[in-house]
Amino acid sequence: MLERYEELIKIINEADYNYHTLDKPTITDQEYDSLLRELFNLEAEHPELRRSDSPTQRAGGKILEGFGKVTHKIPMLSLSNVFNESEIVNFDSRIKKEGIDPKYVCELKIDGLSVSLQYENGKLVKAATRGDGVTGEDITENVKTIKTVPLTIKEPIDIEVRGEIYMSKKVLEEINEKRKENGLELLQNARNAAAGSIRQLDSKVAASRKLECWIYHLPNPEDYGISTHMEALNYMKHLGFRVNPNNKLVNNIDELLQYIEEKGSLRDDLPYDIDGVVIKLNSLPDQKIMGYTAKYPRWATAYKFPAKQVLTKLVDIIFTVGRTGQITPNAVLEPVIIQGSTIRRATLHNEDYVVSKDLRIGDTVSIRKAAEVIPEVVEAIKERRTGDEKPFEMIKFCPICHSPLMKKEGQVDYYCFNQGCDRRHIEGLIHFASRKAMNIDGLGDQIIEDFYNLGFIKRFTDFYKLYEHKKDLTELEGYGDKSINNLLNAIEESKNNSLERLIFALGIPNVGEKTAKILAMRYETLDNLINADIEELTSIPDIGGIIAKSIKDYFSLSFNMEQVNGLKDLGVNTTYTGEKVVVNENFSGKTFVITGTLVKYTRTEIEDKIALLGGKTSSSVSKKTSAVIVGENPGSKYDKAKELGIPIWSEEDFENNL
Ligand code: IVH
Repeated sequence: MLERYEELIKIINEADYNYHTLDKPTITDQEYDSLLRELFNLEAEHPELRRSDSPTQRAGGKILEGFGKVTHKIPMLSLSNVFNESEIVNFDSRIKKEGIDPKYVCELKIDGLSVSLQYENGKLVKAATRGDGVTGEDITENVKTIKTVPLTIKEPIDIEVRGEIYMSKKVLEEINEKRKENGLELLQNARNAAAGSIRQLDSKVAASRKLECWIYHLPNPEDYGISTHMEALNYMKHLGFRVNPNNKLVNNIDELLQYIEEKGSLRDDLPYDIDGVVIKLNSLPDQKIMGYTAKYPRWATAYKFPAKQVLTKLVDIIFTVGRTGQITPNAVLEPVIIQGSTIRRATLHNEDYVVSKDLRIGDTVSIRKAAEVIPEVVEAIKERRTGDEKPFEMIKFCPICHSPLMKKEGQVDYYCFNQGCDRRHIEGLIHFASRKAMNIDGLGDQIIEDFYNLGFIKRFTDFYKLYEHKKDLTELEGYGDKSINNLLNAIEESKNNSLERLIFALGIPNVGEKTAKILAMRYETLDNLINADIEELTSIPDIGGIIAKSIKDYFSLSFNMEQVNGLKDLGVNTTYTGEKVVVNENFSGKTFVITGTLVKYTRTEIEDKIALLGGKTSSSVSKKTSAVIVGENPGSKYDKAKELGIPIWSEEDFENNL
């Protein structure tokens, strides 16, 4: 009986491999079903026989309470991105600079989620998500339901491999059809669907999602005597892993660009989503020379395809009022999904923007959204016009308070100048509490609007008197004692913020986060800033006449001064408690531009550091730039600096100058 049991496992696992991984079925569906039934029956009668690599495990069944943690022996890194030919050339030159004659393996960038698979003695023992790169989640039970992941490999060895779990376009469509019939919310895209499926506590649900897997990385190639990435791919294929057939070795940039072009046009015909091409140095000794940054390998990068454009309908153009009174037209769109997010709105900036694109209500428009970038209306498709479209007309009165709109001299935007406009007040209060300003947790936009309408918060000082309404709050729907206490504590806590947050929170026109920080460091107390005159203000690098006048105008209004004094009386801190400026002659009075991804600092961190040393930062390179600090994958600013002969600093150079 044991013999038959083992034979069944072998035959079914092999049939799975031939069907799912090689795409070459060797037995009929009926034969397969009958073998699997036999195996299920045998296990039911003799549970003591059940093996961890039995294909019955693929059906799922275990229900977990949660996912355990797995620490990766070698961190699971992400990839740096390149977006165009010149960035690819830069990547290539950085490799050549190390004396390497590079050959690359090009692969499809599968849009799914990465997974690490560990085998002991040839058997799958653990599968984990990437998590934060160091620690991931144990998803072994769910991964066992993926038919393209072998439960047993062809050799009884210990090995870890990595790859991408994904859902095919067809499966996503099928699932969504069913969900639609059942009135359930649709899964947004294949990647979210795959990620959601792999995090199901009930592995039966995961099994029903029919996920698949491509393997593309061997973290420990030396252990298997392998010296190129291509060999690693072939070795993993030999072991029974599913390796993507589109992988290709290219000898130079021309071949690489050709691969990108080819795969880009193949994209829509592939049965799964890809969002780019991964470029990997083939020689493993060369990979060693290039090494790693904290986040990425330096020997690989991901070329991302340009953002997709989709067509939808411009249903309406509505107008919003900002805290400064600025009026913005916004496109109301028939909802469309672009690369995973549903787009319903897009800013149209101002009247000139809409007019220059001749957008009409009812138009079919093309929409573009790049990763983490706000959606943009590219153009109206004029050929699709029926004649029923409504031409755009700029409004003449504030949509909220109905006062007449006007432009500021020389500007394109219209403004509502009514200081008493409710919307302006609400937006001002939202800004005050926002994350980069006073950072009051638990005060979302809608809550502030509700509190405004209820009369609890009409001006800044009212935040700090909200406790007086504690009883009213308990009567509101959705508020328990705990959430009210949390909110009041968060408000109390915000009194201790350093001065720059308060300056930014006041919403002085033209005073952004960066200017607020400069002013706070320079003046140290709010009173000092209030008393500063225009001449003194404009002597500060980065503060021009417009900002200086704006600051003076703000503090000369009695309404504003009442608020500021009120805040002080209520105990809001008005002094700078951040790091003090220690002038360093390598930085003082100099201007720096930062480009590329830094390893040790975020953008804000390095900008703050430069400011604390007496220097300033700018976003564009000119003859006045003192040095350009260059991180990984620098953009065109790096080229411009070279062209102008501006000193180029690496992160190490920056630190050596400290
Ligand atoms: S290689 C150290 N190859 O893209 C090597 N990644 O944006 C790391 N991805 O986290 C990964 N297809 O989840 C590699 N052919 C491929 C890939 C691929 C998709 C994913 C992977 C990675 C992410 C980085």
